[in-house]
Amino acid sequence: MRVGIIGTGYVGIVSGVCFAEMGHQVVCFDVDQKKLALYRQGKSAIYEPGLEELLTKNLAAKRIRFTDVITEMLHDSDIIFICVGTPPLPDGSADLSQVETAVREIAENTPHGAYKIIVEKSTVPVGTHKRLKNITRLYNKSQAKFDFVVNSEFLKEGDAIHDFMHPDRVVIGVETDEAKNLMIQLYEPFKDKILVTDPSSAEIIKYASNSFLATKISFINMVADLCEKTGADVSLVAEGMGLDKRIGRAFLNAGIGYGGSCFPKDVKAFIHVMEQHGVEASILEAVDTFNTKRFHRMVEILKEEIWILKNKHIAMWGLAFKPNTDDIREAPAIKIAQELLDAGVILHLYDPAAMENFQKLFPPSDRVHYALTPLEAIQDVEGLLLVTEWAEFKKIPLKTIYEKMKLPVVIDGRNLFPAEEMIKHNFRYFPVGKGKVLDRMNETK
Ligand SMILES: NC(=O)c1ccc[n+]([C@@H]2O[C@H](COP(=O)([O-])OP(=O)(O)OC[C@H]3O[C@@H](n4cnc5c(N)ncnc54)[C@H](O)[C@@H]3O)[C@@H](O)[C@H]2O)c1
Repeated sequence: MRVGIIGTGYVGIVSGVCFAEMGHQVVCFDVDQKKLALYRQGKSAIYEPGLEELLTKNLAAKRIRFTDVITEMLHDSDIIFICVGTPPLPDGSADLSQVETAVREIAENTPHGAYKIIVEKSTVPVGTHKRLKNITRLYNKSQAKFDFVVNSEFLKEGDAIHDFMHPDRVVIGVETDEAKNLMIQLYEPFKDKILVTDPSSAEIIKYASNSFLATKISFINMVADLCEKTGADVSLVAEGMGLDKRIGRAFLNAGIGYGGSCFPKDVKAFIHVMEQHGVEASILEAVDTFNTKRFHRMVEILKEEIWILKNKHIAMWGLAFKPNTDDIREAPAIKIAQELLDAGVILHLYDPAAMENFQKLFPPSDRVHYALTPLEAIQDVEGLLLVTEWAEFKKIPLKTIYEKMKLPVVIDGRNLFPAEEMIKHNFRYFPVGKGKVLDRMNETK
């Protein structure tokens, strides 16, 4: 089938490449010339494992191409996916201007009498499909026929190709049989996973899913706080809870709170939508507030342990909001780094993929150093903050870490290191939600 993609960021490029891999003919359109130039050479503009290989393969097979001319994309596609950004506005609501521009341009440029399916893949508030329908009515003078479909994307950065190709569900919110049948044909390899709904339900499914996952994270972090006060271990609590099939173990890892380009903005936008419709959103307000406060935790522990932070050398391992991505949007590392700099710390930063992006916010200086390896980052530092749980950190021998550091203070925001081993190696070790370990640290102060 002939697929068009508008917006080749994380979702657009992965969707485009995966549709091509499924055998469809894909044309991707973006306004960002730099991204397009990279993609045409088979290079990815984002860090995403497996993406470049699949892109190169499908470029060679001539199943995917890239253009900055919208009429070209419209001429060669029947099903057009809107994959542009929906970032937060200051009041928490979703900024839908990129979506509106994309749909307006489709309406203005679709040839006379043509039939196109416009698919909302971007995450948008309930009711957006109605607004988009109206935009096409206003701007379409060529009497083209449009159908609207809501097909939100559920992929996770870092595992995006796998998620797209092995979905838990493909939600198709649709109003006409013609559009429904074409969408089912498009997703034929995943036909057992398709859930057909009305467009409003499909729009709500996306926000409700992300908000629910965020709620699980804030919930387990709250439980972790109680574990710390009572000598309990949040990993065991999560295991015990997760064995209940109604609950499940996923998203019950205590830590420093959720970040990234989706959860923080989607929770806020969902709250905003609820308020607009007069629906009580206090559960999600609590989730959001709890998460925002959580970023201070690591710096508070550090202050408690080494007291004055001014001119102390502190390392941070991990800057991306999660492992296997270079994405730092709403990453906890941003707030933590800023708080440490405000306290007068000299920072030593390392991340396998996100340092280039981080440098745009925190340029290298005499207070901010970027290391080429994790070990270089911890040379003679007085504390290490483990912010993102990249697998490579776990492979480094604890003895080596201990020897490199000036003070062996490790604040593990992701419970990456084995607590008993850390204690055996004489670290001052501060994990999340492990009451007994923290009690031992306090006793030996
Ligand atoms: N990133 C994720 O993990 C993820 C997962 C699921 C859903 N989503 C949702 O998908 C949407 C896209 O997210 P993203 O992370 O891929 O965004 P992104 O910011 O990485 O990419 C957006 C792309 O759209 C392009 N663009 C903007 N306006 C355009 C226009 N008028 N015409 C053509 N191109 C245009 C930009 O140049 C950019 O390349 C958002 O609504 C997001 O919430 C994201």
